[in-house]
Amino acid sequence: MKLLHLDSSITGDASVSRKLTAQIVAHLQENEDVAYTYRDLTADPLEHLTLAAGGSTSILDEFLAADVVVVGAPMYNFSVPSQLKAWIDRILVAGKTFSYSETGVVGLVGDKRVIVAIARGGFYGPDAAAASSEHLQTYLSAVFGFIGVEAQFIVAEGVMVGPEHRQSAIDSAAETIRSLAA
Ligand SMILES: Cc1cc2nc3c(=O)[nH]c(=O)nc-3n(C[C@H](O)[C@H](O)[C@H](O)COP(=O)(O)O)c2cc1C
Repeated sequence: MKLLHLDSSITGDASVSRKLTAQIVAHLQENEDVAYTYRDLTADPLEHLTLAAGGSTSILDEFLAADVVVVGAPMYNFSVPSQLKAWIDRILVAGKTFSYSETGVVGLVGDKRVIVAIARGGFYGPDAAAASSEHLQTYLSAVFGFIGVEAQFIVAEGVMVGPEHRQSAIDSAAETIRSLAA
């Protein structure tokens, strides 16, 4: 199995999303031989998309080659880090990952598993006061759905509310990771 692991947090060793993506990768490696590629979008950032950069295919090829993609997605200012957005700008490519038809958009990326680890400081569940400000999970769900992949989400939220809640959010995400199909 070819596994692509992406991180985009700027918070280094304190990062919750980095912790969770590492756990997901370790879990997936338990029972299967994995050809592993790691990309740190913060240490090695991609440039903002330009028309000229739109023609470059190495990031897209790396994504297309992977059977499983694990994405670390911290919430920064209600949405994805701009480092992750620059990567997304390379993988949504007409004719490669989606196409337009008379009946609408068709996703062209079929048989790929995408697992996204989300970390949010506050609460954004359906009953939370800030629910309508959630533009991270909803956005990523739309992005991957657009190209034909139903992403799985592992969520740790409320991690800035206090140390106890931070730990319980991390523990409960870790439990969900252990129950993921390998
Ligand atoms: C620049 C920045 C912006 C943030 N914006 C938000 C936000 O809009 N909503 C929120 O709930 N938490 C916000 N947070 C808190 C992060 O979502 C939280 O710390 C989470 O753990 C980030 O993931 P990471 O630990 O992997 O970096 C922000 C944190 C940073 C550093």
